[in-house]
Amino acid sequence: MVLISGTGSAMEALAVACTRRELAADVAAVIADRDCLGLKVAAKRGIPAFTIEPAHYPAREDWKEALIECVGGFRPQVVVLAGFMRVLAPPFVDAYAGRLINLHPSLLPAFPGAHAVRDALDAGVKVTGTTIHFVDHEVDHGPILLQEAVRVQAGDTVQSLHTRIKNVEHRLLPKACRLILEHKVKLHRGITHVEP
Ligand code: GRF
Repeated sequence: MVLISGTGSAMEALAVACTRRELAADVAAVIADRDCLGLKVAAKRGIPAFTIEPAHYPAREDWKEALIECVGGFRPQVVVLAGFMRVLAPPFVDAYAGRLINLHPSLLPAFPGAHAVRDALDAGVKVTGTTIHFVDHEVDHGPILLQEAVRVQAGDTVQSLHTRIKNVEHRLLPKACRLILEHKVKLHRGITHVEP
C-alpha cells in the first residue's frame, strides 16, 4: 500500500520491482490526498487508486478515519509514505508500527520538512541523500532503516539534485520493503538492526 501526493515515481519503482518479482509482494493500492500524476501512473499499471482529500470531508477527523478505513480494507503488510504530504493520525501510526515507512530526500536528522532538497542546497552541504525510516509520532522522524548519500555537484538546482536523489530512492525502496516482509529488521531502543 503506497500513499502519495505527487508524481508517484517511487511508487512506480516499487510496482516495477514487484512485477519483476524482486520482492514477493504487490502494490495493493495507491491512495493520494489530492488529484496528482501518481494516481494516473497507478491506474495505468492496473493498481487500484483512490483519492481521499481532506476538503471532501466535513472535519479533519472524518478524513483521518476515511484514510484509516481505506488502508485497513487492504490489510497491507507494509504501508509506504512516498511523497505523502500529510501527517497521519496517531492511531494510524500505532496500527502499522514496524511496517509503516517514509521516504525523505535528505540524510535525516538533517533537513526534515517539505523542502529538504532546497534546504540542503541553501546550507551549502556537499553531500546530502535519502532516508527511509519507520514513522513515529514526529514528522520526518523515527528509526532509520536505510540511508544513502548523494553528492551535491557544482551547478546543481533543486531539480537536478532531487532527480539524482530519487534515482537512489527508487533502488532503496524495494529493498526496504523486502527487509520488512522478510522480517530482517529488528528494532531495539529506537535503532534498527538489519540482518545481513
Ligand atoms: C521523494 O523524493 C520523497 O523522498 C519525498 O517526496 C518525493 C516523492 O517523489 N518525500 P515521487 O512523487 O515519488 O516522484
